[in-house]
Amino acid sequence: MARYAASLPVLHWLSGLLVSAALVAAFASLIVFFDPYLPGVGLEALYILVILAAATIWGTGLAVVAAVLSALVYEYLFVPPIHTLTIRDPLTLVVLIVFVITAVVVGQLAGRMRRAAEESARLAEEQSALRRVATLAAKSVSPSAVFEAVAREVGRQCNADLARLERYEEDGTVTGVAVWSSGPAQQALGTRFELEGLSIAREVRQTGDPVRIESFVGATGAIAEESRALGIRSSVGCPIVVAGSLWGVIAASTRNAEPFPPDTEAQIARFTEIVATAIANAESREQLAASRARVVAAGDDMRRRLERDLHDGVQQRLVSLGLELRFTQETVPAELPALRGDIGQVADEITEVLDELRETTRGIHPAILSQGGLGPALRTLARRSAVPVELSLDADSRYSPPVEVAAYYVVSEALTNTIKHANASHAAVFVEERDSTLRLRICDDGVGGAVPQRGSGLIGLYDRVEALGGSIDVVSPTGHGTRIQVSLPLEQTDGGPPPVPAVGASSP
Ligand SMILES: Nc1ncnc2c1ncn2[C@@H]1O[C@H](COP(=O)(O)OP(=O)(O)OP(=O)(O)O)[C@@H](O)[C@H]1O
Ligand SMILES: [Mg+2]
Repeated sequence: MARYAASLPVLHWLSGLLVSAALVAAFASLIVFFDPYLPGVGLEALYILVILAAATIWGTGLAVVAAVLSALVYEYLFVPPIHTLTIRDPLTLVVLIVFVITAVVVGQLAGRMRRAAEESARLAEEQSALRRVATLAAKSVSPSAVFEAVAREVGRQCNADLARLERYEEDGTVTGVAVWSSGPAQQALGTRFELEGLSIAREVRQTGDPVRIESFVGATGAIAEESRALGIRSSVGCPIVVAGSLWGVIAASTRNAEPFPPDTEAQIARFTEIVATAIANAESREQLAASRARVVAAGDDMRRRLERDLHDGVQQRLVSLGLELRFTQETVPAELPALRGDIGQVADEITEVLDELRETTRGIHPAILSQGGLGPALRTLARRSAVPVELSLDADSRYSPPVEVAAYYVVSEALTNTIKHANASHAAVFVEERDSTLRLRICDDGVGGAVPQRGSGLIGLYDRVEALGGSIDVVSPTGHGTRIQVSLPLEQTDGGPPPVPAVGASSP
């Protein structure tokens, strides 16, 4: 790459030289042709055009060459004695000096303008790269997507051969979380690196500041060895600080003999702020999801205990009380029919109370869900519904308790709402397991117009489902029934966004 870069200016210069020589020759022919018709016009001034072109396109050096060439051609063709190359005539000297001054001044100005234009194009490109990454971070995508985008943009903006994002681990090692390479990726992935020997990660950890390493020659340590193996000559890195603590590092490396320009640290630092914000956002999202999951789990736990207490305590006592009364009824002498009848009536009432209690406990927590799983629990729900329910169940295995409970309450709340609010003639429940996701759809043909903010049932479903990393969609156009669709991920049952994948090695 370095050889290719070096050969470019030579070619550029040679082409400039050829074009300038051709232009000088062309203008000389023009002057020879027009001079007899335009005596005293000073057509030699046309050479200035060649010098201006050379200065703006190829720079001061070539412009000076073009100036000298023009003055020599002028002297050779037009200054007596013609066809000689002796610059003795004061006019030729003046022309030469004017040409050279023009070449230097225009060349310098054009160079400055070119550099300013290049710098402003670079800044514009950097701004749009920052905007791209910031937009991605604001979209609440996973941090790993932001990390990858940042590694790519830093690599490109710094003209690096390699760019990496790394996270410091509690055990004192460092793990790559994103890597970008100008060519095919060459680094080992999925390993933690010890912070011994020379490396950007270690220097940043020690200083907490941006650092640069100009050479890995003779340096010890696994990272330095890998850098040499990859042909890395120098690296620059900046710390990523999240909520006041050092979280990780962004590093850019080059195989070029030329080190990175002095403003590279500042350039990388502008990206570290976005990364830190994305990490802080993801962490607070994760904490929020975890706290929602805890609230939901605590509620479920309380319901389960209440159901158990009622079942094992009050319910059992009522059952035995009923049995005792039946037994007592049997022992009452036949000549006391009124007493026998009264006792029988109390026993009947106790049976009714028991039925009511069973009904209530079923609403608190369905024991059939823990015992038989989602399938039997939903079949019972559908069977007992006051509105006819068509149940299509394509998911008969057992799932984690949070998923089963969430799915059960979604169907239960949706059917209760259908009965309470929809004035529907029919409801349908579809449950299917596909792509590691449990999908539920509950529809009714009622009046529609469901508004979650009006009660607590639907809002509770949002909490429950989103706490498990799932999604819920309520569609209820007035007059066209209500449809609730829910997806519950089956692999991850602890709530919160997926963890950031650890991909790799360490920054040279
Ligand atoms: N299937 C439905 N058809 C028509 N309206 C509905 C339906 N489901 C809900 N709604 C409307 O949306 C509102 C919110 O429902 P939500 O379940 O959140 O509360 P709720 O049923 O009123 O009370 P609860 O907190 O006991 O569930 C209801 O008050 C009702 O007006
Ligand atoms: Mg409700």
